[in-house]
Amino acid sequence: MFINSKPILFSAVQPSGELTIGNYIGTMRHWSNMQNTYECLYCIADLHALTAINKKKKIKNVILDTLALYLACGVDPNKSTIFVQSHVCQHSQLNWILSCCSRFGELSRMTQFKLKKVQNCIENSNIGLFNYPVLMASDILLYQTNFVPVGKDQKQHLELTCKIANRFNFLHGNVFTIPKPIISENGSKIMSLLDPTKKMSKSDVNQNNVIFLLENISSVVFKIKNCITDSEHPPKIYHNTNKKLGISNLLEILSAITNKEINFLEQELHGILYSEFKSIVAEALSKFLLKLQKSYIHYRNNEFFLQEIIEIGAVRARLKSQETLNKVFSAIGMV
Ligand code: TRP
Repeated sequence: MFINSKPILFSAVQPSGELTIGNYIGTMRHWSNMQNTYECLYCIADLHALTAINKKKKIKNVILDTLALYLACGVDPNKSTIFVQSHVCQHSQLNWILSCCSRFGELSRMTQFKLKKVQNCIENSNIGLFNYPVLMASDILLYQTNFVPVGKDQKQHLELTCKIANRFNFLHGNVFTIPKPIISENGSKIMSLLDPTKKMSKSDVNQNNVIFLLENISSVVFKIKNCITDSEHPPKIYHNTNKKLGISNLLEILSAITNKEINFLEQELHGILYSEFKSIVAEALSKFLLKLQKSYIHYRNNEFFLQEIIEIGAVRARLKSQETLNKVFSAIGMV
């Protein structure tokens, strides 16, 4: 099951709504290839999703949607452990222990918390949002993870994970493996379409900023054609995240879905108009999404198969995580 000849890799996505091309390009795009090099655990972080629960959406359906998307992205249940976070209670148990090893100050400094807390009002923000990075540390450390592929926005959380793990190891003896990030240079942070100074986020109030993986194609084309570029004259297509945020974002999207280097694309697209460039991106993205959506529907229609995968995944994850939890209990001197 866990033949530890390969390094362990852990990754997760929150099933808090429909996933975006930002989730795919930043994280899930790499998952399929990683299965050959690493012992992979792919988790559906439903407990994290409770920090932003939307009563209208049935979380059960969103979990199965997310799982079907994992499979459509090439995650193979015969190669990897795929599981739902809440099925493995060890995550919540370690979360408490690590909370007692985390500092109020360091959690207050997390950028994501600062951005997501209720309109600058700590009073009405839920504690789960504050504690979010500690649960994330528990996810990672429970499996003696060596590598975590993260988007740039999650890098700070991973640094905190290492800090908490080092602190625990220092206080109680070497229990946790210290994980390393895998950050891909291009596309690890896809920006909003109409305001490319901020990250593309599924919870954006203006849905024209976001492209969802399961979105209908005419809407995808509309959004790309209307996204923000710049007014450089004559128009030039090159990557520069200071001067040309919108164009750089489109280049990153195109590069990720076509597997062509940005340098190569810059040469290939030299001298064309922005409108032509947008058409090229829209067409490539439509082709890519149609294929992904077809595969998604195939898996999503087989709920029995999906349930089976997460049951098997939970059994494996419980076994592995309990090994670590036993070491933790014993290190801190619990009976
Ligand atoms: N916070 C991550 C995100 O929103 C999801 C996540 C939860 C995660 N636990 C994790 C990612 C552990 C990496 C490792 O994208």
